[in-house]
Amino acid sequence: MAPIGIERVNYIALNARDPEAAARFATERLGFTLVHAASDGSHYLSAHGVDRYSLVYKPSDEFGLHHVSYLVHDEKVLDTAATRLQSAGVGITKHAESVEWEGASSIRFDTPAGHKLEFTTGISTPIPVAHLIEAPNSGGPEPVVADHVGLGAPDFEAEEKFMLDILGQLYSSRILDPSGVQVMGFMRSPGRYLYHDVVLARTPVPWLHHLQFSLKNVDAFYQTAAALEANDVKIEWGPLRHGPGHNIALYFRDPEGYWFEYSVEEEIILHDQTYVPRTWTVADTKVINEWNPDDEVPAEIGPPPADALLGTSLDETFGTGANS
Ligand SMILES: [Fe+2]
Repeated sequence: MAPIGIERVNYIALNARDPEAAARFATERLGFTLVHAASDGSHYLSAHGVDRYSLVYKPSDEFGLHHVSYLVHDEKVLDTAATRLQSAGVGITKHAESVEWEGASSIRFDTPAGHKLEFTTGISTPIPVAHLIEAPNSGGPEPVVADHVGLGAPDFEAEEKFMLDILGQLYSSRILDPSGVQVMGFMRSPGRYLYHDVVLARTPVPWLHHLQFSLKNVDAFYQTAAALEANDVKIEWGPLRHGPGHNIALYFRDPEGYWFEYSVEEEIILHDQTYVPRTWTVADTKVINEWNPDDEVPAEIGPPPADALLGTSLDETFGTGANS
């Protein structure tokens, strides 16, 4: 499968009941900068990398991902990708002019689970952004760039096939449950070095599992961890070192209830042709956290059981504070 041309994540756009409050939290506590508040209520936030913005909150009462924007190199690659998607039967919408603030032309389409992806053009970098930039020196939390997003799908195999066969993603690693059923898949775009730019999770309903931002280095990571705590952001998981990707990570939730991962030292893959994807099992004591064999993934990071979602508001589901 020839690469479809994804270079890296551009930004991640989230639905938000109160985008202004979410944006304020991100600027005051998480290390982002508000660069634009649009008349439709969308709030655009930049990180410490090279992109105009890396995180967007879009007004919506629906909990979940609005879309993930991925960069391709140029308009020609964008056109070729559009043709390839259409010939594979994927419905796309083309936007000759930006539908987002200061964006370029784009195409959007849904994965089989309904996650909306965008391809557009922006700042093309030869290597991952966190490796490219000088260390920020803000003294506060320092997210640099969105490198991956975790997408949950009930029909994992359909989502997997879409990523592999239509988008040309490569496997970096898999996690299997005790019965041998795959529960997670870590995938990368060819020739882009990053261990993963998407993580698939088997979930009972389509779900935004988590969104991630890379930091510059370990010093920035621990400075950020301390700054988050000083800003009364509750680090709910970590610091830890994941097995797949080998990154040092911490997790917290924003006011809308989304799980954010800040991480550093993600494994890079220099040679796709000889890289052998690793298969982990949940029984492997190093898979979740290489530093603590007893660590567990917080139950709240995944969707509630399907029956708990029926007739239940998100406030009730996530408890006080998740959406306040
Ligand atoms: Fe992650």
